[in-house]
Amino acid sequence: MPAQSHDNQRQSQSDATDVILTGDRPTGPLHLGHYAGSLRSRLTLQGRCAQTLLIADLQALTDSSGRAAHVARHVPEIALDYLAVGIDPAQTTIAVQSRLSALAELTVLYLNLVTVARLERNPTVKAEVELRGFERDIPAGFLCYPVSQAADITGFRATLVPVGDDQLPMIEQTNEIVRRVNRLAGAPVLPECRALLSDTPRLPGVDGRKASKSVGNAIPLTATTDEIHRLVQAMYTDPNHARASDPGRVEGNVVFAYLDAFDPDQATVQELKERYRGGGLGDVALKRRLEGVLEALIAPIRVRRAELESDRAYVMDVLRAGSEHAKVTTEAVLRDVRAAFALDA
Ligand code: TRP
Repeated sequence: MPAQSHDNQRQSQSDATDVILTGDRPTGPLHLGHYAGSLRSRLTLQGRCAQTLLIADLQALTDSSGRAAHVARHVPEIALDYLAVGIDPAQTTIAVQSRLSALAELTVLYLNLVTVARLERNPTVKAEVELRGFERDIPAGFLCYPVSQAADITGFRATLVPVGDDQLPMIEQTNEIVRRVNRLAGAPVLPECRALLSDTPRLPGVDGRKASKSVGNAIPLTATTDEIHRLVQAMYTDPNHARASDPGRVEGNVVFAYLDAFDPDQATVQELKERYRGGGLGDVALKRRLEGVLEALIAPIRVRRAELESDRAYVMDVLRAGSEHAKVTTEAVLRDVRAAFALDA
């Protein structure tokens, strides 16, 4: 979809009274999947609604306690990624989860409203437990991270959460907690929230599998021209499309998945799909087009990031100011929730 209609769709799903909160675990650099899935919506919403981006370092520790230094190092890296894509701290608050002790206290209170069985049923947590091979040795903090995420969301009284579809179970659990708190309080002290899903289906890695930092099949937001070239060349297309004249498959073709997500000229992409299906369009020409599209997208991000990297003090200031601002908001929410638990004496 062209950039313009992405914009229109997002405008129609949000309104100026929405409060937006979303977050990222600081475990590695953000990549194009994050851009298509979430960063792009945040840029569109910026300035239209109150928006906070939370760098979720405590959540990252729930499955990476052995990599604490790695997580800490990535906090400013995520901030750099945000700023480089165009997140403006004058319009969007960037805060660090671990600096907001109200979120930790909200988590402790909410844990009383959730059963272990309910946590074990969360399909995202289930899938992650399997992926990480925890088996029966699940860190308790990991099992409970949906509750901490509910604290993140409600701590800002967020109404709209731009996330991938894997996060839908978190939204559902958050709303269950919200209803329980409101029942305890006898008043609607917290709003329910809804997910803002991206209209880009999950972007595959260059090999067609799930994009992952550790596999090296994702395109980093800061990729150099050479890296873009190498990764686009490595993209999975259609193994039966040996000659340009052969008919080719568009479905499952990674190059088309990226053109769908990023090419500003979607009318041409549709024509290219027809030509590819009919035979008469080679992978070389197609990949050349995608390289151009990605270079145009990434080059300004790369330049801006390099500038910011030489001004770390500015990045630290952004995090300090954003977290201070968020502290005020989250502490006000905590006061209301404490009162719901009769703890306001
Ligand atoms: N769980 C999210 C992820 O893994 C990150 C996150 C933490 C988050 N807190 C949040 C997302 C609050 C939305 C709202 O990507």
